Amino acid sequence: MRDTGSTPWWQGGIIYQIYPRSFQDSTGSGMGDLNGIRRRLPHVARLGVDAIWISPIYPSPMKDGGYDITDYTGIEPLFGTIDDFTALVEDAHAAGLKVLLDFVPAHSSDQHPWFLDSRSARDAERRDWYIWRDAASDGGPPNNWISEFGGPAWTWDDATGQYYLNIYAREQPALNWRNPAVAEAMLDAMRVWYERGVDGFRVDAVEHLTPDDRLRDNPANPDWTFEQGPARSLFRTFSSHQHDGFPMVTRMRALAEEHGGRLLVGEAYGTLDEVMLYYGTDLDGFQLPFNFELISAPWNPRHIADFIDRYERMIPEGGWPNWVLGNHDRSRIASRVGAEQARGAQMLLLTLRGTPTMWQGDELGMTDEPVPDHMLQDPWAINNPGTGLGRDPVRIPIPWEDAAPGRGFTTGEPFLPLSSALSAAAQEDDPASMLSLVRALIALRRAEPALSLGTYERVRSDDGVLAFAREADRKRLVVALNFTPEERPLPVMGAALLSTIPQRDLGAVETLLPNEGVILAA
Ligand code: NOJ
Repeated sequence: MRDTGSTPWWQGGIIYQIYPRSFQDSTGSGMGDLNGIRRRLPHVARLGVDAIWISPIYPSPMKDGGYDITDYTGIEPLFGTIDDFTALVEDAHAAGLKVLLDFVPAHSSDQHPWFLDSRSARDAERRDWYIWRDAASDGGPPNNWISEFGGPAWTWDDATGQYYLNIYAREQPALNWRNPAVAEAMLDAMRVWYERGVDGFRVDAVEHLTPDDRLRDNPANPDWTFEQGPARSLFRTFSSHQHDGFPMVTRMRALAEEHGGRLLVGEAYGTLDEVMLYYGTDLDGFQLPFNFELISAPWNPRHIADFIDRYERMIPEGGWPNWVLGNHDRSRIASRVGAEQARGAQMLLLTLRGTPTMWQGDELGMTDEPVPDHMLQDPWAINNPGTGLGRDPVRIPIPWEDAAPGRGFTTGEPFLPLSSALSAAAQEDDPASMLSLVRALIALRRAEPALSLGTYERVRSDDGVLAFAREADRKRLVVALNFTPEERPLPVMGAALLSTIPQRDLGAVETLLPNEGVILAA
């Protein structure tokens, strides 16, 4: 394992997200699986990252891509068996890669035996494991909350004459974490995976653990636009980030510590103030509460520089930053900012202070691709037909090869359309490829502690250029990124170590070329 002395591995490390359905199929089912991941570990290890985070692999009816779980300690047969999982962990560890799983505490599948029992009768043993309420006086839902995927966040159950809460799809009933038995059962599930050797978890949708128990209506958001999705038409004042959820996070962390300091990365979308709460009052929360600014922010150097300063200021003392450039929920970076800027974006991700999370396929420059209606998988797309909403376009299978059928992803019928991006094989030996750039960036980050563990200082930010310095052991490197398609002056002079422009003569870097990013010793 790579360990940076007394510094925990994840501070100097890089996390790579794998969405198992789209990574590599080993059976011809058309969908990726665990043995497929094993087969492609050399690609991941050669990138130089430290850990893989695998999106859910548990038994699931796949109403929300595996985030609807029927058994928290099992393996979805489409993905393989527990033996395949054990072999994957062994192979990953042998390749120097930690393994993080996705833990989905806020809701189960409606097919989970707990929910089948809960909905069987009002006095069922597990009735109170989920959030049931009577109808409002007009017969409608108990409050105005909207599901993240559109429509009311409440589903009527005819048999028992009450509504249950579903913050996401109706097939994802919200678990009731205020019931101590639920908290115990979920922590037990984490324990099982620790004993099976996982190095930590990415914890899903944690802002929804304990929605307001008085179920107060959420206020309207006057600035809402449709592209934000129906759920954002209300502020989530009462449905998210409630104070009694935080002790649950502390318990998850205590369990991670009991197992020798496993890593917890928390997914909680919110304001910076809200995100900070997940570090815990005494750094006893998540080691890394996700920072999603780079996947939602305008691509503007001033904005990004101001955000970095604010973020750096707000992180509690002893807390560690992190950055995310893409994931399975948001439009890909190359689609958001264009192919040229996507190269600089990788440089930004891999040189900022804090643990980077990379999204599979971004290292190949993949873009969002259209998905025909008959192939749609995402409940967000299915519930909002004709709107263009949905996340399938960012989950297109990885194009591994060109000559092979199914682009090396599958020998069967792929569950989503195949990518039109340049394959990993085609990029492998091309020094100008995105893959080569990402590998070079990671190699430099690894060679220069300034880029991983060093300090951060803003050097310049204007309408076109962002420049910052990283320093460790009296070695100072400056990263300068040109966000414009025009040439710009270099903010500082120094010896160029790496440029995003292929075949650039590093001895002759005197200006920033259009869209160029450079790293200088300065
Ligand atoms: C966040 C996950 O990233 C997303 O894919 C999922 O739909 C929701 N949480 C619900 O689990």
